[in-house]
Amino acid sequence: MRFDFIMQLFILNVGVQSFILYIYFNYYFQILLTKYFSKFQNEYDYIIIGSGTAGSVIAHNLVTKTNFTFIVIEAGGESNSLFEIPVLGPMLHNSVFDWQYETIPQQNACLAMNYKKCKLPQGKIVGGSSKLNNMVHIRGNISHYASWFYGKYHESYLNRHFDMIEKNLLHLNEVQYESEMATAIAEAAEELGYSRLGSEFKVGYRKSKLSQKNGKRWTISDNLDSSKYVLSNALVEKVIIVNDIAKGVTVQISDKKHNIFARKGVILSAGTINTPKILQLSGIGPPNILNNLNIPVIKNLPVGYNLQDHVTTGLDLILFNKTLSVNAMSMLDVFNVYQYFFHGKGPLTTAGCEAITFLSTKGENIPDIQFMVMPVGISSDRGSYLRLALGINDSVWEDYFEKFFDKHAATILPIVLHPKSKGQVHIITTDPETPPLIDPKYLSHDEDVKTLIKGLKLVQRFLNTKAMEKVGAFINPQHYPGCKSHTIFSDSYWDCYVRHLTLTSYHYVGTCSMGLTSSNSVVDTSFRVFGVANLYVADASVLPTLPSGNINAAVAMMASVFFDENINLVKKVRNSEHCHKYQLLYELIHKICLI
Ligand SMILES: Cc1cc2nc3c(=O)[nH]c(=O)nc-3n(C[C@H](O)[C@H](O)[C@H](O)COP(=O)(O)OP(=O)(O)OC[C@H]3O[C@@H](n4cnc5c(N)ncnc54)[C@H](O)[C@@H]3O)c2cc1C
Ligand SMILES: *[C@@H]1O[C@H](CO)[C@@H](O)[C@H](O)[C@H]1NC(C)=O
Ligand SMILES: *[C@@H]1O[C@H](CO)[C@@H](O)[C@H](O)[C@H]1NC(C)=O
Ligand SMILES: *[C@@H]1O[C@H](CO)[C@@H](O)[C@H](O)[C@H]1NC(C)=O
Ligand SMILES: *[C@@H]1O[C@H](CO)[C@@H](O)[C@H](O)[C@H]1NC(C)=O
Repeated sequence: MRFDFIMQLFILNVGVQSFILYIYFNYYFQILLTKYFSKFQNEYDYIIIGSGTAGSVIAHNLVTKTNFTFIVIEAGGESNSLFEIPVLGPMLHNSVFDWQYETIPQQNACLAMNYKKCKLPQGKIVGGSSKLNNMVHIRGNISHYASWFYGKYHESYLNRHFDMIEKNLLHLNEVQYESEMATAIAEAAEELGYSRLGSEFKVGYRKSKLSQKNGKRWTISDNLDSSKYVLSNALVEKVIIVNDIAKGVTVQISDKKHNIFARKGVILSAGTINTPKILQLSGIGPPNILNNLNIPVIKNLPVGYNLQDHVTTGLDLILFNKTLSVNAMSMLDVFNVYQYFFHGKGPLTTAGCEAITFLSTKGENIPDIQFMVMPVGISSDRGSYLRLALGINDSVWEDYFEKFFDKHAATILPIVLHPKSKGQVHIITTDPETPPLIDPKYLSHDEDVKTLIKGLKLVQRFLNTKAMEKVGAFINPQHYPGCKSHTIFSDSYWDCYVRHLTLTSYHYVGTCSMGLTSSNSVVDTSFRVFGVANLYVADASVLPTLPSGNINAAVAMMASVFFDENINLVKKVRNSEHCHKYQLLYELIHKICLI
């Protein structure tokens, strides 16, 4: 390595290590406090498991619209304002505030990662994954969501929920600080004939809309007084079910087990990986998995199947000979730190993604690829953190990423909006602290590979525009390690490349999906677990398919519909409530009426 890169690595390492130390200190201090000061009652009306996006929507609604008693039980600790500096978001990945989950070795994907395992970050912190995420807000395709409910709700009803969330629970803002690339991409899109998007969903481009207040991360959990409603550092082990009725939960706090009871309902909002885990530990899931572990089967439901994720690729595929205005070294600049804390501006507000495009690889009007445009790559921090967080194999790092330290790397991630590959999550022991086995089966369906390759060719088209040439962007000419036998940028090269540099965009869904029957879904269209009274799932795991875009807003919308459907006191009880035995028939009739 050249001397100046070694110096940069050293300086960045000092920054990174100090921050990691701070994270640990903060974490253990909280664990100590929990041991002596944790307070909770024996019984509430509702128990919400998980304080993430969904749990926070429900809790906020309970506080503002009802007088029910409830508690949110959260396995992670409290966040704080240093963790929430947008540009430091990735520093929580792989930390004690992340569940630190990873896939099992993938057969045809994640080949550039250690042991062919892709890391799957999930927030273990008050606020959940929204405290680690990129803050990009997208509504997606509303008619797609209506189909999840089989015609029960009209698009306008779902739009009202989005309106309420955007107005009452979020602060949405334009990007506060951007690199030269944000404008160049917009110009490139225009050059290629794409139109600028507002909030509608169609083919086109726009700059990112972020969940930030004065340049600082804003999450739905920030609406909630967590000291009052959230029991943190408390791990729910399982749901207590008696005669097919959910009665409460078993929870572990500072190595002690407690039972906490719920008069009206237990709501699982633990996320796509942990919700199926808790259900399986409670005896709800596929009998073959439960029998192997001697867990009595309470309900045979397809819990954990249908795992889907927005798969992507393309880190550091764009290079510049000069440094852009967003770069790792500028984060340590005292002026920028001042700018952030006093004015909410400057490079520390950078959320990662500056611009979004929705494109069709088939030249149609229906987007099947989303671009997330990022002014940096993983080589930007010289290897001090990002590559470890992703688990990039050392030899790949040395053979590829270290080779262009003299350039500024940037990234356009082409994301497959509707991947066909489906995987599974299941427990492998009865120990609630052991991570479940997670196999997303990335790229197991050939069409996903084909779509990604077409997506990479679209990236090349963008790079070949005058706008991108003007700012000095060019495609990374390094041959990817493991793909050197292929002619660079040929189809077979890209095929090899995507299987090596396979990436998640962190949008796991579907493991407790919503549907009409218990043979292929876990909850009905009212979020009720089939066959168990007072047990609900409301989080990303109920989404039966992936939204067309980043999913946080859709998860919040679903949680809001859940509340409206099951708890809201303000609205009068809907007719369908009276005949839920005939729900299937009701939904069929509803469907026919809509046609
Ligand atoms: C790195 C990253 C970047 C992302 N970027 C974006 C983005 O830019 N835009 C976007 O729209 N979406 C983004 N997402 C996705 C989005 O943030 C998540 O889909 C969303 O937060 C999921 O909400 P949830 O309520 O289902 O689960 P979560 O928010 O993950 O919340 C689940 C909560 O339950 C807790 N929990 C789990 N198990 C237990 C247990 N046994 N006991 C007690 N508590 C438990 C967890 O600790 C967690 O706090 C990103 C996600 C990640 C991880
Ligand atoms: C909520 O308020 C109603 C009347 O407004 C009352 O009947 C009910 O008992 C209250 N419930 C709780 C849990 O306090
Ligand atoms: C890293 O990649 C090299 C070359 O492909 C391989 O031999 C090695 O086993 C990999 N290491 C890990 C930990 O996966
Ligand atoms: C939105 O989804 C609906 C149905 O799910 C589909 O028919 C329509 O083409 C989609 N619109 C776009 C712009 O993709
Ligand atoms: C970048 O620098 C290389 C030489 O280091 C040169 O060959 C190339 O043309 C430059 N590219 C641009 C876009 O300036």
